Amino acid sequence: MKSLSSENRKFEPSAEFVKNAKISGLESYCAEYKKSIENPESYWANIASELHWFEPWTSVLDRTEAPFYKWFNGAKTNISYNCLDRHVEAGNGDKVALHWEGEPGDTKDITYGELLQSVGLFANVLKSLGVRKGDRVALYLPMIPELIVAVLACARIGAVHSVIFAGFSSDSIKDRILDCEARMVITSDYGYRRGKVLELKKIVDEGVKDCPSISEVLVIRRNGNDSVDCAMESGRDFWFEDCANACEDHCPAEPMDSEDLLFLLYTSGTTGKPKGIMHTTGGYQVFSYITSKYVFDLNDQDVYWCTADVGWITGHTYIIYGILQNGVTQLIYEGAPNHPTPARFWNLIDKYNVSIFYTAPTAIRAFMKWGDHWLEGNDLSSLRLLGSVGEPINPEAWMWYHEKVGAEKCPIVDTWWQTETGGHLLTPIPGAISTKPGSATVPFFGIEPLILNDEGEETDVGILAIKNPWPGMLRGIYGDSKRYLETYWNKWGGKYYFPGDGARRDEDGYFWILGRVDDVVNVSGHRIGTAELESIFVEHDSIAEAAVIGIAHEIKGQGLLAFVTVIEGKEINESLEKELIALVDQRIGKFARPEKIVFSSDLPKTRSGKIMRRLLRSIAEGQELGNTMTLADPSVVDEIQKQFKKG
Ligand code: WT7
Repeated sequence: MKSLSSENRKFEPSAEFVKNAKISGLESYCAEYKKSIENPESYWANIASELHWFEPWTSVLDRTEAPFYKWFNGAKTNISYNCLDRHVEAGNGDKVALHWEGEPGDTKDITYGELLQSVGLFANVLKSLGVRKGDRVALYLPMIPELIVAVLACARIGAVHSVIFAGFSSDSIKDRILDCEARMVITSDYGYRRGKVLELKKIVDEGVKDCPSISEVLVIRRNGNDSVDCAMESGRDFWFEDCANACEDHCPAEPMDSEDLLFLLYTSGTTGKPKGIMHTTGGYQVFSYITSKYVFDLNDQDVYWCTADVGWITGHTYIIYGILQNGVTQLIYEGAPNHPTPARFWNLIDKYNVSIFYTAPTAIRAFMKWGDHWLEGNDLSSLRLLGSVGEPINPEAWMWYHEKVGAEKCPIVDTWWQTETGGHLLTPIPGAISTKPGSATVPFFGIEPLILNDEGEETDVGILAIKNPWPGMLRGIYGDSKRYLETYWNKWGGKYYFPGDGARRDEDGYFWILGRVDDVVNVSGHRIGTAELESIFVEHDSIAEAAVIGIAHEIKGQGLLAFVTVIEGKEINESLEKELIALVDQRIGKFARPEKIVFSSDLPKTRSGKIMRRLLRSIAEGQELGNTMTLADPSVVDEIQKQFKKG
């Protein structure tokens, strides 16, 4: 974090960018921001009126059950209508919505008109299988166009989608399905990742074994050169194409209440159990639409590319809903950045003339490591705007992105937000806000961030807080309103939203995110709760206790380091380590593997038995340990230090 506090370079958007921008110059930003804060309801009503509503709202913001806020209450709308029908009706049905490219290089272009038809057909298939408004549907798919179609089809008929990132294990699928009692899972026979075939249906079969709520598994054919055999359970499993033969492709969008549940997305927290974050229809639609429009400065001619997976919130808001509502053309790429070579992303930008590119710091750092020569020979001059998301971007990576990818002419929008916030809360508006490497800069319209101490007093360095609700905010945690209140609203007595991040504000009023202040580690932009991993390790019958911490990692930003104690009499050997890693793979997925597991006979604890993570962190960082007098048994520190160094 030291490099962040000394960073004071400032980059202004070019005159040319400013000239054509949606919001031009600091003064326009300030005027618009002032309006949005002084009169939020009329500000948001105005934005909402750019979209289609079957019936108008009776109130913009209903605070009566705060913090269970309601937005655009009384209105009827459908977000798939705003993503599709609206553009087709305006005569833009022939515009390409998706340029899709699979990892092996297979391609497909889909217009807004075609996407509307595919979504209608998919929606009719869901209906024909009995899916009704309010039913929960789990999706476990690779980044193929059908993933986007399936999401929009759920939204079209009012089924609640819960997308599960295809890197999650069958156990994780099971946990999520059990929590929301999904009636259906949609998957595919297979997908690709780094040249390997991923047999998704098999993982789903394993996951739904003990899920009584599941009555159908709908299977899409990936349609590539590799074919994969799928065991199909009769009466439960259906091939999409068989069902589609009996359906038509016109399906009117169901008028949904503004506060009807649109989707659930599970994310890790500070306990062992992932939280089903709830997003509803009307407010999310307005927020995803307007943040996309202003932050990415979207124009009719743009080709937008976000490299996230739809399995995370970034894919929901800034691949599907926000971007399609703006009617622009985007690129969707199925696979890995380094397949077949680390030039793949640059080849794609060149090939599709991508003008807006949105990726994660971890990817940028990986490219820096793979070497600049992979960029050579690719024409990146179509780019006009770059974005970063998922974790704090270190100034070195920011500068590399700025110079090597953006040719020093593209503004970089470093967007700070969360699964819970639905869309960007802190971000530069590219034609108005000068950027500083590593800072997410200023609030989006309507957002009032503060930096507070534990007592709720304002400071310059402290904990980020958000005053006042915004339309895209989460509406709760599925089935657990108590946890919603405790996690997000109890920190300062219900007065402010608590995101769980530390932050600093500089002399220009710019915000610098300093990372999580809770027991959540951000690995390659993916949130992993340390408690979740700890509870997995202690499942093993050789393990007595576990403490997991985050450590700095060159590429991933943060990695996980596990300290475990072994039950007396149990042997510590290589196979134990392998078993523990296998357990992580099985319970969560490979992406949650720790960098290292350190075995010892005990953990450093206070006399009252509390594990001292601060000490473990110091050991990991090779720092002075300071006072260890408060430890119940100071000798454990030496043992752990030895074990840690052993490697
Ligand atoms: C956490 C949210 C936002 C979509 C992807 C991750 C961290 C996110 C930034 C940023 C610094 C960031 C925060 C946040 N984070 N973006 N631009 N600068 N930190 O979504 O899994 O809900 O994680 O990611 O710590 O709380 P998520």
